[in-house]
Amino acid sequence: MSEPAMTLEPESSAPAQDTVTLTDNATGKSFTFPVLSGTAGPKVIDTRKLYAETGMFTYDPGYTSTGSCESKITYIDGEKGVLLHRGYAIEDLAEQSDYLEVAYLLLNGELPNRTEKLEFEQVITHHTMVHEQISWFYRGFRRDAHPMAVLCGVTGALSAFYGDSLDINDPQQRMIASHRLIAKVPTIAAMAYKYSVGQPFIYPRNDLRYAENLLSMMFSVPAEPYRVNRVLARAMDRILILHADHEQNASTSTVRLSGSSGANPFACIAAGIASLWGPAHGGANEAVLNMLAQIGRKERIGEFIKRAKDKNDPFRLMGFGHRVYKNFDPRAQVMRRTCHEVLSELGIKDEPLLDIAMELERIALEDEYFVDRKLYPNVDFYSGIILRAMNFPTSMFTVLFAIARTVGWISQWKEMIEDSDTRIGRPRQLYTGATHRPYVPLSMRG
Ligand code: SDX
Repeated sequence: MSEPAMTLEPESSAPAQDTVTLTDNATGKSFTFPVLSGTAGPKVIDTRKLYAETGMFTYDPGYTSTGSCESKITYIDGEKGVLLHRGYAIEDLAEQSDYLEVAYLLLNGELPNRTEKLEFEQVITHHTMVHEQISWFYRGFRRDAHPMAVLCGVTGALSAFYGDSLDINDPQQRMIASHRLIAKVPTIAAMAYKYSVGQPFIYPRNDLRYAENLLSMMFSVPAEPYRVNRVLARAMDRILILHADHEQNASTSTVRLSGSSGANPFACIAAGIASLWGPAHGGANEAVLNMLAQIGRKERIGEFIKRAKDKNDPFRLMGFGHRVYKNFDPRAQVMRRTCHEVLSELGIKDEPLLDIAMELERIALEDEYFVDRKLYPNVDFYSGIILRAMNFPTSMFTVLFAIARTVGWISQWKEMIEDSDTRIGRPRQLYTGATHRPYVPLSMRG
């Protein structure tokens, strides 16, 4: 194997701080860079001066080994299957907290005291209505428009209605925009669903808690009173907690990159919604249900496992694998427990899709292809089964993910805006296209 062009050696006689030294084997020149340590997780090599000193870029498509920012919000240990929000374990938050309390924690960095919690709930509750003219947007969409298309469009349009919370340099306006997004995205989402089924929009109710209100706006009708099923509302609240934030995933990085240009928060969240829609990311929960329905019965699982392993087949096992988790996704384990709770509450004894999912999980976790690649069920594997049991249409699954993740996106956006190190994000590239060549007039192109 040819000698690598450059070698990275820990500094032999390291000065006071951690450093690494890069040696360009082509020229023999060496360059030393600081190594920064956080409170947990891998150290980072500070390469901010790499180009200025070496004339070279790093090359990391997909950002597998790249830290894009400093953050205090969420920590993931993929090897151990650990997920912490401001230091609190997701398992503890899912079991003992509620979504708005987790939202407060993500936004402000600490769990609220009793007064802070009540005030935050009141603020969010009183921002849940949208400007009445927003309802007119929906008539511009076809009834069969995917609700993610509607959510993306209407959320981006919020900046046209809430001009008093667009100044990203005003902390007060940043907080109001954050509250408005956390409060209004569920309303916009439920309106998209009602429009798709031809039912009237249901206004938010201030006497209901966040998850209860979402279920009411989704499933109640003016023709009769709506009774919230507390068990289902608790399950919904827990699903929202499990999806609230997840470090620098694709959609969060999209929000940060959009925000780094100074774009308004509503536009940035619309960009995050667009990125989440992809089947490799938040669109996977919808894709899992479609996959389980396609498998249809346990006897066909082997056929799909074979396809997932076939490099010539683009098919992947939806709900399996993760860029960071090389162990169980801790959210998937809580989701599995919630799945059994909801099905039992609803008296659903034999749910064929759940049987197929559990058998698929068992087989995959015994198959060396998945074991060797550390592919485990992720947060999306079980969520779709719960949501389907709760009568959400498959097309709404990623919308529900977006509702939950809005607080993660806006907390990360706020942290970025408040970080004095923030500059506009502008990655470079490895160029392999044509080098300069003279223009050829049309008459000479044959
Ligand atoms: C989310 O980033 C986040 O935190 C995201 C998220 C969040 O909360 O924000 O956790 C939410 O997006 C969860 C992931 C949902 N997506 C899916 O379930 C779709 C199916 N999963 C894959 O597409 C994939 O696992 C990804 C996209 C999740 C991760 O892709 P990576 O890290 O780029 O992994 P990879 O493509 O490099 O795969 C490594 C190997 C490859 O095989 P080899 O080339 O080494 O032989 O594993 C294989 C892949 O082919 N592989 C799979 C697979 N996932 C990876 N093979 C079959 N089925 C799969 N699901």
